[in-house]
Amino acid sequence: MKALLLCGGEGTRLRPFTHTRPKQLFPLVNKPILFYILEYLAVSPIREVVMITGTTGAQIRAAVGNGEKWGLRITYVEQPQPLGLAHTVLIAEEALGAEAFMMYLGDNLLEEPLSDIIQTFARNYAEGRLDELVLVHEVKNPSRFGVAEIEGDRVIKVIEKPEAPRSNLALAGIYFFSPEIYNSVRNISPSTRGELEITDAIQDLINRGQTVGYRRLKGWWKDTGSPEELLSAQKMLLKQEKKQIRGELFRSHATGRIQLGDNSIVENSWLKGPVCIGAGCRIKDAVLGPFLSVGDRVEISQAEVEKSILLPDCRVANLSLTDSILGERSRASARRPTYLEAPRFPHRLLLGDDSSVELQAKRGRKTRYY
Ligand code: G1P
Repeated sequence: MKALLLCGGEGTRLRPFTHTRPKQLFPLVNKPILFYILEYLAVSPIREVVMITGTTGAQIRAAVGNGEKWGLRITYVEQPQPLGLAHTVLIAEEALGAEAFMMYLGDNLLEEPLSDIIQTFARNYAEGRLDELVLVHEVKNPSRFGVAEIEGDRVIKVIEKPEAPRSNLALAGIYFFSPEIYNSVRNISPSTRGELEITDAIQDLINRGQTVGYRRLKGWWKDTGSPEELLSAQKMLLKQEKKQIRGELFRSHATGRIQLGDNSIVENSWLKGPVCIGAGCRIKDAVLGPFLSVGDRVEISQAEVEKSILLPDCRVANLSLTDSILGERSRASARRPTYLEAPRFPHRLLLGDDSSVELQAKRGRKTRYY
């Protein structure tokens, strides 16, 4: 079976980070999101991947190439304009051929191995029990997703981002389609946002009497479409990491699972795992973690940072940060160490690549920083 992997999309909800990179190449625990997906595929029965790219195609092709690093054969199909997820099915029709395929949205991460899921579909499809299969996951905010209504072992209705959802089952961005999907995409019209919605195509399959089954994903599932979702996906990934210390710790204390890359030096600090620190970093007088990843060559001094993502070559000084994302080569600092004075009031920063923020002290009865 082939996979259709969608890596177009503008990633508008992830600005400023997507001004300078495709969202699929944003690193979580120092590895691009897309590489996790290619690793899932590498250990699945799928060998051939048709990858859809958009305006950021050149960066994606440069990072992934022909896929041989993962034992995959990747061919690229360009989607010149963002005309919707269902539109990609039509432009990939020739490359996919007249067989059932898996469609995978390139910003979805999950805990359950793909092999189990693929086998479930392949077995039931071969035995004629279903024609298509969607993966669902219970969520607290179904209005943010495509939502499936089910009856027995079938999906009876799907709606894209409903205001009043009638179920809490989100459509995860992984679908198995029979070649009937091509006819369904041809049957539908663009939605109010001008896109051919995959959810509408699935509803057309149901309306035409196809048996659309569903499967609940086991373990966690994350759509990494917003900064909050990036941070929460990284939390799940950090929990899976193993301890590995290659750099050096001086007068420092490390608890929990810590990764420290080559030539990184940690001095007079406390690392509270899970924390992943890349190579060539300089950490001094800091309390780091939990749930923090730090890219290569980052410098941190007099700071407290938790639940955050620091991309390569950024610098943090004199600050207390939480739930923050700092872009490559960005700078965040305060004139004096705020974390010593207001440790309970950490800042939250989302800084794009090459951005710089310096917090100033405002004098008062208590020192406040803005
Ligand atoms: C897309 C689909 C939606 C699905 C979601 C899963 O939405 O349109 O049906 O639930 O992916 O990741 P998007 O995240 O592009 O808004």
